[in-house]
Amino acid sequence: MLFFIDTANLDQIKEANDLGILDGVTTNPSLMAKEGITGQANIIKHYVDICNIVDGPVSAEVISTDFNGIIEEGKRLADLHDNIVVKVPMIKDGIKAIAWFTEHDIATNCTLVFSAGQAILAAKAGATFLSPFIGRVDDTNWDGVSLIKDIAEIYAIQGYETSILAASVRNSKHIVDCAKAGADVVTCPLSAILGLLKHPLTDIGLEQFLADHQKAAK
Ligand code: G3P
Repeated sequence: MLFFIDTANLDQIKEANDLGILDGVTTNPSLMAKEGITGQANIIKHYVDICNIVDGPVSAEVISTDFNGIIEEGKRLADLHDNIVVKVPMIKDGIKAIAWFTEHDIATNCTLVFSAGQAILAAKAGATFLSPFIGRVDDTNWDGVSLIKDIAEIYAIQGYETSILAASVRNSKHIVDCAKAGADVVTCPLSAILGLLKHPLTDIGLEQFLADHQKAAK
């Protein structure tokens, strides 16, 4: 399972990249706004800055919702850097645009996915990545991880090549559950990645080892 970081914060992207386990980055308009990145020129520069940090797919989301607008915006984004993946919402014109990008060898990430039916449609259109939002499913009192499991089962039966990119991951347990459920990629905040490190017995054991080493050295 690949690890992407879900942020537009350059310091956090660098920190995750320095860990040596980062495979890519996802952003969205809300994450860009959170970092105060506004205006077309700044947004474009920010995507290039991210691509220059991480050697892997970087999802950049279109804000157009009509076919022609999505195509024009997506082409401009894809031209920025080889790492760019054009992120397209799960809407009718979005699916049509993903099919067009597939025909023209432009990588896509179909976003805002909440059902297995949507996942089938995106795979039929040839999406490179599919982003089911598991945390937001959990928020509605349904089970986000079981959506990943359903999609993984369907994709395996049907032989679809679209990668399942579990998104809206909120914590470290989500990451472990997604790995069990068959996600190809998880995109998560830095806190969820770092949370995987934590176990009290590791801390206690290390403290003991270091204390014993000190004692023996006296
Ligand atoms: O990957 C999608 C993500 O950014 C949405 O996360 O926590 O706003 O549901 P969240």
